[in-house]
Amino acid sequence: MYFIGIDLGTSSVKLLLMSEDGVIKKSVSRDYSISFPRTGWAEQNPEDWYEQTKDALRELIADIDKKEVEGIGFGGQMHGLVVLDKDDNVIRPTILWNDNRTAQETEYLNKEIGTDKLSEYTANIAFAGFTAPKILWMRKHEPENFNRIAKIMLPKDYIAYKLTGVHCTDPSDASGTLLFDVKNKCWSKEMMEICGVTEDQLPSLYESYEVVGTVKEEIAEEFGLSKDVKVVAGAGDNAGAAVGTGTVGEGKCNISVGTSGTIFISSEKFGVDKNNALHSFAHADGNYHLMGVVLSAASCNKWWMEDILNTTDFAGEQEKIKELGKNNVYFLPYLMGERSPHNDPNARGTFIGMTMETSREDMTLAMMEGVIFAMRDSYEIAKSLGIKIERTNMCGGGAKSPLWRRILANVLNLKVDILEVEEGPALGGAMLAAVGCGRYSSVEEIAEKVVKVKETVEPDPEIVALYEERYETFRSIYPSLKDLFKTMNVD
Ligand code: XUL
Repeated sequence: MYFIGIDLGTSSVKLLLMSEDGVIKKSVSRDYSISFPRTGWAEQNPEDWYEQTKDALRELIADIDKKEVEGIGFGGQMHGLVVLDKDDNVIRPTILWNDNRTAQETEYLNKEIGTDKLSEYTANIAFAGFTAPKILWMRKHEPENFNRIAKIMLPKDYIAYKLTGVHCTDPSDASGTLLFDVKNKCWSKEMMEICGVTEDQLPSLYESYEVVGTVKEEIAEEFGLSKDVKVVAGAGDNAGAAVGTGTVGEGKCNISVGTSGTIFISSEKFGVDKNNALHSFAHADGNYHLMGVVLSAASCNKWWMEDILNTTDFAGEQEKIKELGKNNVYFLPYLMGERSPHNDPNARGTFIGMTMETSREDMTLAMMEGVIFAMRDSYEIAKSLGIKIERTNMCGGGAKSPLWRRILANVLNLKVDILEVEEGPALGGAMLAAVGCGRYSSVEEIAEKVVKVKETVEPDPEIVALYEERYETFRSIYPSLKDLFKTMNVD
């Protein structure tokens, strides 16, 4: 029997076919674009996600006995506001996780409602990309659309709805809405009131590995599937990637260098950092996690290579770089503002420190280092909470780069485990489906069986020492520019 994982990403949807013993048989993907209607805004159309998912699904199961598909699960880009009317039609394009239009609403929540109250209700504070500030934005700027809302959901939940007809979500993705009481795993009455929504407008909650329903009859017919195919709720992409990399249970770490960069620390206990600089979210294994998010990670590489250097030979550009820890050029990767720990939608990308000797390679290296230095900002907060980590998994597009792996190991002074299968959220989604269908008793059990380390990149003490100094310089750049960034944003 087979399980399908669907990772509804920001630049593409990836689908993966896994056998019941955890072997990946095939994976396919389809791209879609992001529209940036204004500086700092980012939107996508849920119908495009669904069309591309269907197209990919056809290819994924083309060569197998379709009746052998037993379950489907998801990982998905988080925080996006999907709004449906009473007939379940999409009201407006989804405002994405990296959209920064809600600076005012975020400030209102953090300053007027207050971070103490938000943290008490949800275990988190407001960040511009979270869902609740987007709802407030819509209420103010698009009242007609706001008044038509019958259902709010997150991106992957739209696909689950189209396949099953059930409006559902899971605790890991619900955590990023700021409408969810993470500790008690229920919708927060106070937050619903603040945002002017009611519980019947929110999706039903299921654990990530719980079955929400079976595929609709017309879907089964369209794809030749059995009508008994079970669909589980799935997870936000970071929790999904954590499942796919075996980052479950107590005290494990996964670093994803994808469009965004995240540092994800799993925990069996609920916990909140007192400044709320790290997100305190529920995990897809039924437990909790802490997470820091750099909004632009591998997307900095794509921007630098494709838009600035005009090349698609990413590996060729990186191969020329051999020496680490000696670069005098620094890069702040805040191309879409920054989330953790600065929570500053006005922050901007910056190269600093160039001289007449600065080369193309120095700038490329600075861009890659800047992303990892920014992740270290979150890692420092985790350390200050007494969390001890010796090693981390690495996933996302950036994990394919040997140079980025070395930079990560040396800037964070951690052993970096590279896994045999690097499929992140799509694999996590398929694994959650296998648990939901009863093939495994828990997420931990399947993770133990499926996830294998292929290679470990060890930090080099000499390079670690060099980076230690450079990180101190990096962390002093943003405070010097913070006020300037505020004056720079003209549309
Ligand atoms: C997490 C976040 C991003 C998106 C990217 O809080 O905003 O990692 O989930 O898909």
